[in-house]
Amino acid sequence: MPFRITKAVIPAAGLGTRFLPATKAMPKEMLPVVDKPAIQYVVEEAVAAGLHDVLMITGRNKNALENHFDRATELEATLEEKGDVDKLQKVEYSNDLADIHYVRQGDPRGLGHAILRAHMHVGREPFAVLLGDDLIDPRDVLLERMIEEQNTRHASIIALMEVDPATAFLYGIATVENTGTPDVVRITGLVEKPPTGTELSNYAIIGRYVLQPDVFDVLQHTEPGKGNEIQLTDALQTMAHDNIAGGVYGVVFRGRRYDTGDRLDYIKAIVQLAVEREDLGPELRPWLKQFSANLD
Ligand code: G1P
Repeated sequence: MPFRITKAVIPAAGLGTRFLPATKAMPKEMLPVVDKPAIQYVVEEAVAAGLHDVLMITGRNKNALENHFDRATELEATLEEKGDVDKLQKVEYSNDLADIHYVRQGDPRGLGHAILRAHMHVGREPFAVLLGDDLIDPRDVLLERMIEEQNTRHASIIALMEVDPATAFLYGIATVENTGTPDVVRITGLVEKPPTGTELSNYAIIGRYVLQPDVFDVLQHTEPGKGNEIQLTDALQTMAHDNIAGGVYGVVFRGRRYDTGDRLDYIKAIVQLAVEREDLGPELRPWLKQFSANLD
């Protein structure tokens, strides 16, 4: 009997140094993307895929995260008094979005190390990992598709996207071979952030994974890699190479993904999302056109 996947792990322990000073006292996951903190998009995505049990791997300075997914009693009472139902709904929405648990990473020793902290909570079930820097447009299906493949293949599944080779050094890069399914490939090799010119393909890992619990055993024996950090990509390379727990497959995503990982991409993500919003798009679009016409 395959497990029904119910658990999502969201690493949120990064220091967010690319956004200093904004992230001096606030986690980068709380930076607003239009009017919602980035992390809420990710939790909403997990919930939409049926994953109501969310474990966040946090670190210092992350109290705002816990507060965001908890009741804000004073604020709620004030809005209720004013009869501002619309705003009250916005505040209350994130309170019961998911059953959220927290564990701290301690030393920031890399993504693989962060995932290892989920071992106790996850146990021996397949589980999903969602990285907060990658936002997937809710109109495009990815996580559900990956869970579907995990259910039939009983293997680990990663999300891939074809990227410009010039940007391959920013990603885990996969070498692949075709399967009989058009959007699914078998992973034959993985390299974390290959130096420019050495990448063996343009298939990049985007931050969604549905993993066999065996990844914990592999991570325990994974030596520090790129940046002297324990890399999830390296553990998955071992699982692909040694065909551990069914090996590793990739679902190739061709939908809309927004990167909020660095300042430029973050600004682009906000503009992309805002132009499509019913409440902001109609005014923003003509303004943007005029603004860009005046740029040289
Ligand atoms: C992480 C992973 C990398 C992946 C990327 C996707 O890197 O290590 O393999 O391609 O996320 O966003 P990070 O961007 O956190 O350095």
